[in-house]
Amino acid sequence: MIKNKILYSNFASWVLDIVKAKGSYIWDKKGKRLIDFTSAWNVTNLGWNNPEITAVMINQAKKNNCVPGWAADPIQQKYASLLTQSLPEKLSVVIRATGGTEANEDALQLARAYTGRSQIIGFSNAYNGHSMAILALTFSPQSTKRIAPLMGKAIQMSFPRVSDSPGESQKRLKRFGKKLETILAKKDVAGVLVEPGIITGGGSTAIAPKGFCQLIRRLTREYGTLLIFDEVGTGFSRCGKLFGMELEGAVPDIVTLAKGMANGAAGIGAVVTTQEIAEKSYQAIQFYSTFGWMPPACAAALKTLEIHKRDKVWLKAKKDGDYLQAVLKRELLGHPNFETVNGIGMEVGLGLNKDKKIGKVSLVDKVVVRAREKGLFLVGNHENNIQLMPPLTITRKDLDKGIEILVKAIKSF
Ligand SMILES: Cc1ncc(COP(=O)(O)O)c(C=O)c1O
Repeated sequence: MIKNKILYSNFASWVLDIVKAKGSYIWDKKGKRLIDFTSAWNVTNLGWNNPEITAVMINQAKKNNCVPGWAADPIQQKYASLLTQSLPEKLSVVIRATGGTEANEDALQLARAYTGRSQIIGFSNAYNGHSMAILALTFSPQSTKRIAPLMGKAIQMSFPRVSDSPGESQKRLKRFGKKLETILAKKDVAGVLVEPGIITGGGSTAIAPKGFCQLIRRLTREYGTLLIFDEVGTGFSRCGKLFGMELEGAVPDIVTLAKGMANGAAGIGAVVTTQEIAEKSYQAIQFYSTFGWMPPACAAALKTLEIHKRDKVWLKAKKDGDYLQAVLKRELLGHPNFETVNGIGMEVGLGLNKDKKIGKVSLVDKVVVRAREKGLFLVGNHENNIQLMPPLTITRKDLDKGIEILVKAIKSF
């Protein structure tokens, strides 16, 4: 859709004009205030326009706005130091980037250069960005037909989803492990690109059975394949830990970060890898990023990370996420419009009846619009899922108010 000279993806059939935002609230151009349950898709985890972050950015902008890729502003080094200290020890070298797609592209290059192999494994129906290579790893060939050919060598696997029955979950994980091992045993796979146990991009909130990260870590190590965790969505307290990799204690060879990194104040992304991988690969890869890690973005990212650590934001995320799931189950279980609710921390997927249509419109789309009219900002996948990602700083009162609007909207059809 084109609106006011801007091309929008077909993700929504309408565009909300946001003229002001603060904490868990956004305001549209008519002055209407909405509670936000999206965090701009896992970006404004510390609340919209967090004043502490804005203040350091302005300060930095007055000192120095710009630095080229072959030089360094001290704020970049300060941030690299805190970031690597906050990750497992072996993840100690940073590549600067502007966002998630770029970071994941850099990671794929690193994996190929380090291993000397060319195959990459991704997961269908995941979202890791929109470059040609990443689309090949995640999107169906049907959906990318008109822009084909994409990256030549890409293997798409199905993400194993948790089941209500623990026994069935473990069976699924076992089947997945067998498939993965068969592919990895050929020893031509450079890297596996995956989020750590939950798909947060794309609108579908798929959760893997417990043990997924450890399994994938063990198998990739065994066959000399690099494990790349995309923590663009799971990072920065969203899943009840500072980083999603902590959920199972699986340490990847490469991690990519963006989105919540500077809390939406600036575009920034990062690849963090080991000294050995960086040293052995950097001559072979291209990673110059003109706008990667501009000083104001680094000041914002540094303050963002300091706040996460100072306030242990992940603890509240876990508590609020469990609460959100419990209340939704209590209010909706047995209702014909409801199917499932699942999630990790404050990354919660709400599955609605996918067969129900109102006219030609899916129930999800109807609920998203009705909620918006009643003062709640949501994002759904058009089919059956609403991805709930409130700012992690949301008050219990606003969380309750948002849930109330959501539940009423669901029950109103
Ligand atoms: C999990 C995940 N990885 C990567 C990306 C791509 O990040 P960006 O939009 O900054 O390129 C996204 C974006 O939605 C994402 O959700």
